[in-house]
Amino acid sequence: MKIGILTSGGDAPGMNAAIRSAVRQAGALDIEVYGIWRGYQGLVDQDWRPLTSRSVANILQRGGTMLNTARCQAFRLPAVRTQVAKDLRDAGIDGLVVIGGDGSFTGAGLLFEEHGVPCIGIPGTIDNDLPGTDRTLGFDTALNTAIDAVDRIRDTAISHDRVFLVEVMGRRSGMIAVHTAVACGAEAVLYPESGEDTYEALVAQLRAGWERGKRSSIVIVAEGDKNGSAYAVGDRLTRDYHLDLRVVVLGHIQRGGSPTANDRILGSLWGAEAIKLLAAGEKGVYLGMKAGEMVHVPFARVHDPRPAPPAELTNLLPVLAR
Ligand code: F6P
Repeated sequence: MKIGILTSGGDAPGMNAAIRSAVRQAGALDIEVYGIWRGYQGLVDQDWRPLTSRSVANILQRGGTMLNTARCQAFRLPAVRTQVAKDLRDAGIDGLVVIGGDGSFTGAGLLFEEHGVPCIGIPGTIDNDLPGTDRTLGFDTALNTAIDAVDRIRDTAISHDRVFLVEVMGRRSGMIAVHTAVACGAEAVLYPESGEDTYEALVAQLRAGWERGKRSSIVIVAEGDKNGSAYAVGDRLTRDYHLDLRVVVLGHIQRGGSPTANDRILGSLWGAEAIKLLAAGEKGVYLGMKAGEMVHVPFARVHDPRPAPPAELTNLLPVLAR
């Protein structure tokens, strides 16, 4: 049996752990693995080569992805997918492990539905926004990176009695924002799932903090928040209240760095499981974790509503910010 493996979309710490585990589990089952470079673009270009246990040595602790990644527009075209399915058949590749987020799983789902190519997905995105799983690879590392940054910002915020708006990633999801806010003791958080206009509520929260004697505040802003970017919210607060605030956009710092223990272990579990599933004839699902148990989620579920940040965290934040 020959299996191809690719990483697609935004890279995430823990992807390398999954690649390593898949290759070594395949070796234990006498399955050949082909690494496909630059995600779906590598499928289109037939940019693949064999991976051995030695090819994946010393990658467990590294961020990024040794297979490189891309956001491939061409793969959206049905004719391109037809050609890819034929190329895979001609090369004798019997199945694919796809590591990525919702866009990557949409592609894998189509390849499976339209052409019967056996595909197993491994959730890899710092955004932690996939239906059917409590966790995705990279989320824990990104969160810890954001926490470290906000703790540093807190030192200077306190020293200057300042308000800081810190923008975190997450695309349309508030998962990173809400978890960072609780873990850093932020005074407030703006995130997309909370509704259209939360500006007045933010002002009320900051004012209440001031009245309780708080002289500095940290507001975490999800990049997808409906009020706009941290800079937009900052401009509005400065205009309306003449606050001497500062804005920090954490950006791609959140995507890099050595994966945490959680992401290494999750990647290792999922990489091996994906190979075992393909070997057993399973296809058309992505892996997940629900309440600590490994689950298999049909690709079609990737179109379900994104999971929202847990209400127990969003309700707790204003209590802890007193
Ligand atoms: O999906 C991961 C992510 O880091 C999002 O949080 C962010 O919006 C996006 O990717 C950035 O993408 P790019 O690296 O292509 O700018």
